Amino acid sequence: MAELIVALDVSTAAEAEAVVARLGSAVSFYKIGLELFAAAGPEVVARVKKHGKHVFLDLKLHDIPRTVERAVKSCGALGVDLLTIHSAGGKAMIRAAADAAATFGANRPRVVAVTCLTSLDQADLADIGVTRAMVEQVAALGSLAVGNGADGIVCSPQEVVAMRRRLGPQALLVTPGVRPAGADVGDQKRVATPAQAVRDGATHLVVGRPILEATDPRAAAAAIRAEMGA
Ligand code: C5P
Repeated sequence: MAELIVALDVSTAAEAEAVVARLGSAVSFYKIGLELFAAAGPEVVARVKKHGKHVFLDLKLHDIPRTVERAVKSCGALGVDLLTIHSAGGKAMIRAAADAAATFGANRPRVVAVTCLTSLDQADLADIGVTRAMVEQVAALGSLAVGNGADGIVCSPQEVVAMRRRLGPQALLVTPGVRPAGADVGDQKRVATPAQAVRDGATHLVVGRPILEATDPRAAAAAIRAEMGA
């Protein structure tokens, strides 16, 4: 069963908690990203957890293996359920993150890797010395991550079918860029409906504005979950 994750794209713990309180039982999983974490720190993770919710800490870790290992241990100690690393950090870094997560046993944080940021295009890859096609780069970094112990990857709705085929049935596929049928797509260029993303094999859908900016956020979240079959 795929899970809905609501992106807490706000800048204070108070705003984050207001969203969590307002959505109530309609949502059980929240994403805390760099903006909120840099502003409100580990305390905001604790506050969201106190509401009985799961936390996806999206810090996109990318550093030497030892540093990432220690950062993942810090995230695990906060009770984070899902976190991100950059696949481009390489084999040893991915392995260090997976091993650090494993030390938490059954309640370990799941580790998912970012392949290529969707803000990059082919010309940006060339600037950093990557000459193969974007689709090949994404596929290679996806396999590198899962082959070295990551639980899955973050990918766009357009990549879900190919990645599910490539990475096998166990991989987590965390997918932003989800828009309910007929919704404003905002600045998201590669979008899919919740039903399509789930059909294609996504395990977690990350949704922000269609819920946060809705007149009735709780109803918007419930409608998306219904579309997901969740
Ligand atoms: O508001 P929206 O539904 O577009 O928010 C989606 C969330 O997923 C945001 O927190 C955004 O930063 C994140 N994200 C994304 N596209 C990516 C990677 C992450 O929209 N390629």
